[in-house]
Amino acid sequence: KTNQQWGGRFSESMDGLILQFNASVDFDQRLAMQDIAGSRAHATMLAAQGILTPAELSDIDTGLTQIQQSIHDGTFEWSTELEDVHMNIEARLTELIGLAGKKLHTGRSRNDQVATDIRLYLRGAIDTLRMDLGYLMQAIVDLADQETDTIMPGFTHLQSAQPVTFGHHLLAWFEMLKRDASRLTDCRERLNQCPLGAAALAGTSYPINRQQTADLLGFDTVCANSLDAVSDRDFAIEFCSAASILAMHLSRMAEEMIIWNSQQFQFVDLPDRFCTGSSIMPQKKNPDIAELVRGKTGRVYGNLMTLLTLMKSQPLAYNKDNQEDKTPLFDSIDTVSACVQAFAGMIPHIRANRDAMKLAAKNGYATATDLADYLVKKGVAFRDAHEVVGKAVAMAIRENCALDELDLAALQTHSSMIESDVYDILRVEGSVKSRNHVGGTAPEQVSAAVNAAKVFLTEM
Ligand code: ARG
Repeated sequence: KTNQQWGGRFSESMDGLILQFNASVDFDQRLAMQDIAGSRAHATMLAAQGILTPAELSDIDTGLTQIQQSIHDGTFEWSTELEDVHMNIEARLTELIGLAGKKLHTGRSRNDQVATDIRLYLRGAIDTLRMDLGYLMQAIVDLADQETDTIMPGFTHLQSAQPVTFGHHLLAWFEMLKRDASRLTDCRERLNQCPLGAAALAGTSYPINRQQTADLLGFDTVCANSLDAVSDRDFAIEFCSAASILAMHLSRMAEEMIIWNSQQFQFVDLPDRFCTGSSIMPQKKNPDIAELVRGKTGRVYGNLMTLLTLMKSQPLAYNKDNQEDKTPLFDSIDTVSACVQAFAGMIPHIRANRDAMKLAAKNGYATATDLADYLVKKGVAFRDAHEVVGKAVAMAIRENCALDELDLAALQTHSSMIESDVYDILRVEGSVKSRNHVGGTAPEQVSAAVNAAKVFLTEM
């Protein structure tokens, strides 16, 4: 038997491996609800234009409702012979309602149909992802709120650099995710144009009303060029790109949590239910969930590369290559959504070991810059101050103590400008407190930033 949708021209049909090779129904049935929504809108427009009768529209509506129900129930019978989600649904519709089912595809092609379905699907996925991202950002802000004056070493080159507050560090994560959310918003805005009406590639000779279909589906506007409408998938690439940047950010967060949770750092305790044990080493508590978030970044990057390569050199307009867009797109959606949800669940239960953090900040000579700045304020040139402090640090290393544990006489052997008030700035508390400007690490600034972040989230 030849495929019923185009049997007319064909004398033999696909079978076996090739049938399977050509089909996409295994993975594109995910688009079923969007496909049905698109069909309803298309049929409604056709009826409004007098291309379908009201009775035909009503049959189509009834049939689609029934199909929708059976897909929800899991009783719909998907067939590889019918290739993809679009033809499976259309064939079933005709089975159910007869002639009107055969008329649904008037003025439409699977090319504009699939382009519409993916846009609708991705639009919904972005909305859900942005919401989940909002929960993650909320979790970060809440933790930052508890840790506005918790002192830890800030790092460059993963070497103790200057003391910062843990809340400040967490709010750096917040800023990263804020930009990710805004990239998703941009992507949604650009994709929200309706391809329907482009038909196969050139448009259609029926007196259609594209704006009506677009309005019914919640699109902002119609795609302005029919060739572009059916062929480009840059919106999917854009999403996968935003998803890659998001995954990159999540992997940096993951890496930090893994380091902080290690026995060598012990800055944080990750919640047990986000960790696993070892089958051989009884003492182990491994940060598997964070490691997986870090590891999954690879496939998200891979999906972006897949789509970029898929689209490269494709001549206008539609080519079957485009059927390959779905698996990578869906995988990026699923993967970053799962990662975001995992961290949104984990972060509220992270316990900060404030003593360990503070001790690390003290032991790392993290206030050396503060001592240099102190000398500069007393009239020493910065380069000379740098030299003096370097010697003081070397002395502290020799004595195996922190800078603020050297007594005044010892400090004064390096510079006579050093006086007893030096201890205010040598203490890590004084150091963070002094960085009191917008974007700085002073607890006062962190509290203000937490408040601003909370306001941002109520509007996100
Ligand atoms: N399953 C196809 C896809 O995903 C639908 C469009 C097929 N169009 C065609 N002319 N072969 O892209």
